[in-house]
Amino acid sequence: MKIKLLAAIVVFGSLAVGSANANAAEGDAPNQGLKLSPDLLNLLRAEMREITAGVQGLALSLATADWQSIQETSSKIRASYILEKQLTPAQLGELEKALPEQFKHLDAEFHQRAERIGAAAAVRDPELVVFHYSRLIESCANCHSLYASERFPGFVSPAPQGHHH
Ligand code: HEC
Repeated sequence: MKIKLLAAIVVFGSLAVGSANANAAEGDAPNQGLKLSPDLLNLLRAEMREITAGVQGLALSLATADWQSIQETSSKIRASYILEKQLTPAQLGELEKALPEQFKHLDAEFHQRAERIGAAAAVRDPELVVFHYSRLIESCANCHSLYASERFPGFVSPAPQGHHH
């Protein structure tokens, strides 16, 4: 379960390795940390938009104590992937090598968090859902700050300001 988004992203990473030269030549698809071809980057972005819709829905479900819907969304996020069905196990293994360890760690953390939201909803514990929800958003931000800071320049620290005299 937890490796589903990873699986999708790993695909991006691996294919990107194959097309790294072409990608560099094109000078396209700005992103930090991960070298992705434009096509793969678009797939990753589509995946991200899907996750975003789920996360936005969670806020409303939480506000209306719709536990069922929270559990469903949690499962969807956990199971999120685009290309996994097209991958052989050998490809998966190969692809996994293409991603930085830190990225995999963040991805695993993200999926773990989504799972905990579902578990908290199952026992109708709103405080626990809120707790894990906030940590989930944090995990989005953690990964983006490392691997998507060109896409989201707000993560870049402002230049240090000297004293004003
Ligand atoms: C393990 C890493 C990782 C996690 C976790 C992650 N993202 Fe992303 N996200 C990325 C990367 C990489 C990009 C691509 C940045 C780029 O376009 O160069 C991205 C892009 C996006 C985009 C832009 C999509 C577009 O159309 O360009 C959105 C929106 C987004 N993420 C939302 C989220 C939300 C919401 C979460 C948490 C619920 C999340 N992401 C969790 C890595 C991650």
